[in-house]
Amino acid sequence: MKKQTNQPKKGVKAKKILLYCFVSLAIFLGIMFGWIIPALTQKSVTVTVLMHAPEALEWGPVVQEFNQKFPNIRLEIVDGPNDANQREDLYTSSFLLGNSPYDLVFMDVTWAPKFAAAGWLLDISDRISPQALSAFLDGDVNGGRYQGKLYRIPLRSDAGMLYYRKDLLEQAGYKPPQTFDELIQISQSLQQQKLAQWGYLWQGKQYEGMAAMFVEILKGYGAFWVDPTTLEVGLDRPEAIQAVKFLRSTVEKGVSPPGVATYTEEETRLLFQNGQAVFLRNWPYVFSLAENSEIRGKYAIQPMVHASGFDSGACLGGWGLGIAKTSQHPDEAWKVIEFLTSEEMQRKFILATGKVPSLKSLFNDPAIVAKYPHYPQLLEVIEKATLRPPIAQYAQASDILQRYLSAAITNSMSPEQAMKAAADETRRLLRK
Ligand code: GLC
Repeated sequence: MKKQTNQPKKGVKAKKILLYCFVSLAIFLGIMFGWIIPALTQKSVTVTVLMHAPEALEWGPVVQEFNQKFPNIRLEIVDGPNDANQREDLYTSSFLLGNSPYDLVFMDVTWAPKFAAAGWLLDISDRISPQALSAFLDGDVNGGRYQGKLYRIPLRSDAGMLYYRKDLLEQAGYKPPQTFDELIQISQSLQQQKLAQWGYLWQGKQYEGMAAMFVEILKGYGAFWVDPTTLEVGLDRPEAIQAVKFLRSTVEKGVSPPGVATYTEEETRLLFQNGQAVFLRNWPYVFSLAENSEIRGKYAIQPMVHASGFDSGACLGGWGLGIAKTSQHPDEAWKVIEFLTSEEMQRKFILATGKVPSLKSLFNDPAIVAKYPHYPQLLEVIEKATLRPPIAQYAQASDILQRYLSAAITNSMSPEQAMKAAADETRRLLRK
């Protein structure tokens, strides 16, 4: 009898244990799938980009802010070499070899057509509204388009300009030069008066900076490199040869140091900052760096000089972000782009570094103008700046130009021979 009365109780107990186990398992699974696994997997999303080391350092505070605001995404900047060509090669080889470690591609204004044509970039046209896109400088946005699609959002802009020593010009009774001839005359006069060792500094090393500098001299002589719509090449026209002759004459006349044929932006900035030259062609980043040098308060900027009867040329430079097609985290990469290119983050970056925004509104932003009163004027220069040819074969076209221009500047070819060869080779490239 006892046995019979005990049996139902045992059944109830077993059911309770089963229910208990089931509830515990459900809670365990809930915690695992609802919280622990997502937390673990979300933590592992790292978004990587390659930049040159000094720039990576400058973005440091913004990156830190991003990582705090988005704990599930880790933005990691890999330090790359200073030379823009070398970074382009690193990105290129990582895409060619497959398995690129980069989610984001930090691109010069000239890279997007080549990278897009090769199929390495994600089309981001639908991620941004036309209205949001129109807040960026038009030239910079155009540099990120290829065959009607958008591949790059501008992060910071750039334009070449002429720096001059206003103290020395005033002392010698000169107004800032407007033409190439005036620049040479003033340089020679100030050199003779021993007011400066050198007249004019520019980038003559065989690299991308030389191509950017040359675009400005070409424009100043009414010449052109490649017409992107017709693919016509203008390098062997008489006005382009004049442009080469001008550069060569600066060295022949002792206005520029012979070493100019090996200088990049940084060598020329340092010489200018040390008070050794009257004029310098460079990008806007020099303006705030020179404020901490011995020429503090003694220099000014203006658009590049030109031949009489022609306009000034400013080469449009600048850097922007695209998403690698191979990225496993395109949505997180886009979050980074939105954050870094936002007005608030650009303002922070610009105030700290003196570089140039890609959003038009920031050139007249009260905080920025208070620190950099010349920014509204800079906007005018940038809006008129010339894009290097936006063609898929740009890297090869630039390489051809750099080789022959370097040969002409170092006197191993005449300007006529060099430009004829450069034009022929470019035409062959574009016909392929
Ligand atoms: C600057 C410009 C870039 C250019 C480079 C050349 O970084 O922003 O567009 O290609 O200089 O050195």
